[in-house]
Amino acid sequence: MPENKEARSPIHVGIIMDGNGRWAKKRGLPRKVGHWEGAKTFKTITRYSKDVGIRYLTYYAFSTENWKRPQDEVDALMDLFDKYLDEFDKFIKDKVRIRFIGDRTAFSQKIRDKMQQKEEISAQFTDLNLIICANYGGRAEITNAARLIAEDVKKGLIEPADITEELMQSKLYTAEIPPVDLIIRPSGEMRLSNFLIWQAAYAEYYFTDVLWPDFSKKDLDKAIEAYKNRDRRFGGV
Ligand code: FPP
Repeated sequence: MPENKEARSPIHVGIIMDGNGRWAKKRGLPRKVGHWEGAKTFKTITRYSKDVGIRYLTYYAFSTENWKRPQDEVDALMDLFDKYLDEFDKFIKDKVRIRFIGDRTAFSQKIRDKMQQKEEISAQFTDLNLIICANYGGRAEITNAARLIAEDVKKGLIEPADITEELMQSKLYTAEIPPVDLIIRPSGEMRLSNFLIWQAAYAEYYFTDVLWPDFSKKDLDKAIEAYKNRDRRFGGV
C-alpha cells in the first residue's frame, strides 16, 4: 500500500449535485432558486478542486430522467445552463479543459453551439479536466457503446470475440478519461442514480447530509481526507 498520502489523492472525482430543491423548500423559495445557489457552489468547488490538484472533475448536472420535472423547472435549468456556459470562459482563462458528456441533441441549438465552442477553445488545456454530464445516463452511455460495437461487427471490422472491456471503454463518452476514484453525493441520498455506472466499478463513495448549495471547500477537504483513509484493493487482498 503506498505510504505517501499525496499519492493517494483522488485523480478523478465525481459529484452528484443533489439537494437544491430541498435547500430552497427549507427557505420557502421556488426550487429554481435552489439551482441558482447550486450553480454558485459549482463555481466555488470547481475552482477549489483545481487548487487542491484534482485532475478530472465530473458533475452530474442534468440526467436523462430530469426531463420528467415540471416544465418551469426544466426551463429554469436550461436558462441556468445557458447563462453558466458564458461563465465558463473564466475557467478557460484558468486553463481548464471543458467537456460535456451525454446526448446533447435534446438541447437547444444555442446551448449546443456554446457547448461545442467551450470544448473547442479549451481542448489544449490540462490543468483541470471539467466534465459536465448533460442529458446523461449511465445506461444510455453503455447502450450507445454496445450499438457502436454492433455496427463494427456488422461491417465485419471486428468479431464478437474481439469485444473486450477495453473496447467497451473506448466506445464510452469517457473514452479518454480515467475511471472515477471518488464519488461525492450530498443531501443524504445514498445511491448512484445512473451516474458513471461503468466508470465507478471501483470508486469510493462519500455521502454527506449537507445540501449541495451549502457544500463548502471544507466539505470537499473532508471527502478527500475520507478517501485517503480508505484501503482500495481493487479485488485484491
Ligand atoms: C439535483 O437537486 C440537482 C439538479 C437536477 C440540477 C443540478 C444543476 C445545477 C446545480 C446547475 C449548475 C450546473 C452547471 C453545470 C451550470 P434536486 O433538484 O434533485 O434537489 P432535491 O433532491 O432537494 O429536490
